Amino acid sequence: MARTKSAISLVVLAALAPWLYDRYIGLSTIVVNRPGKLLHVNGFKGYEVKFADRIRNCEDVVLEEELGVAILSCDPGRDRWNTVMGAFHPPSTTHPEDNNGAIWIYDYSTSQALTKLSISNAPTLNSDFHPLGIALDPKSSTLYIVNHARSGSCIEILHLDLPARTATHVRSLTHPLLHAPNAIEIFGNGKLYVSNDHYIRAAVSPLLSKIETFSGAPGGSVVYIDTNDMDASKIVARVPFANGIARLNDTTLVVASSSKPGLYFYSISPDLQSLELKNVVRTPAGADNLSIDSNSKILIAGHPFAPTLMHVAEGRWDCDEKGTQEQKAKCGCWAPSWVGEWSEEGGLRTVLRDGGEKVCSSSTAVRDGERGVGFVSMLYGRGVVVFRE
Ligand SMILES: *[C@@H]1O[C@H](CO)[C@@H](O)[C@H](O)[C@H]1NC(C)=O
Ligand SMILES: *[C@@H]1O[C@H](CO)[C@@H](O)[C@H](O)[C@H]1NC(C)=O
Repeated sequence: MARTKSAISLVVLAALAPWLYDRYIGLSTIVVNRPGKLLHVNGFKGYEVKFADRIRNCEDVVLEEELGVAILSCDPGRDRWNTVMGAFHPPSTTHPEDNNGAIWIYDYSTSQALTKLSISNAPTLNSDFHPLGIALDPKSSTLYIVNHARSGSCIEILHLDLPARTATHVRSLTHPLLHAPNAIEIFGNGKLYVSNDHYIRAAVSPLLSKIETFSGAPGGSVVYIDTNDMDASKIVARVPFANGIARLNDTTLVVASSSKPGLYFYSISPDLQSLELKNVVRTPAGADNLSIDSNSKILIAGHPFAPTLMHVAEGRWDCDEKGTQEQKAKCGCWAPSWVGEWSEEGGLRTVLRDGGEKVCSSSTAVRDGERGVGFVSMLYGRGVVVFRE
């Protein structure tokens, strides 16, 4: 039944394609955020970009506040391989060091050192690692990583030794319902929610995938996974371009939509088997990833002007710092950024908006409220933004 319904939606979507594509060309909702029109906002006490010479294309950051460390998922290889936005170029032969991603640990509380996580027991991760969303279960020292590997997307499960900056690969999870995995939220005992950003992956059809994005069709999904019983996997919600997911409290899950910009609030059934939509809060930028701080505030990072982000993403495969003028220009990043904060009492508030000059293509924002410090990762930018409040 579910399959028939999906097939029907696909046919309908395909039939509407020319009309939708037309809508996409004419779309004017993002016009207010077009370059040059964007109003800059800085609600932080101060911020700086750190490690611009060491890391780039960082998608996700999670904090382990007890230890005062941030875990970053970064992938220079996204330049040539981006399964979400549709870049499918072969690995670089001139800069092989840029082909693979890595997990980095930043000790922001004491040593200020940035160290690459050394992963053992996983030969494939040395050559085919494209980390996106990550999630940490501090109780079991387990790190879950969405890996958009060239050989197929999966979820890597690592056992972490954070103080030693090492990890051991435990397992790679795949499942037909995890066809376009993006973000992960953990519920303990191997139970997860994973978002799929699209129904039609860019690898299957770049055009239809874009149409899905710009039509706002609810092709993304949230999938329930039990790592101890993969047969129990099931779709629990459908969301247009589902991106970040985060648990606000025991009964509420928040899902970010990048194409119908906003936060979707769901109540979670006690057995995690179903979600019920309760509320939608629109955001002035395509919402990418979410995090919840210790005061139950949601931090949202997003993309105020998708066309610029797509422009950066589309040209990046040809970036070469030592190449022609044109190739050098493609290494740049000029997509605007937006960071917002939501709380039950305060509603939605913009804390940062930047035209892309300083903060480019913001994808995740996190905060350690206790220490008054936070981070914004940049999907196609160099380094990571460190802010103080
Ligand atoms: C977004 O952040 C959450 C933690 O709030 C993490 O579990 C998830 O994997 C992240 N996803 C992406 C795509 O960055
Ligand atoms: C969880 O968050 C939602 C949304 O803010 C709120 O309505 C609900 O009362 C909260 N539940 C608990 C148990 O705190």
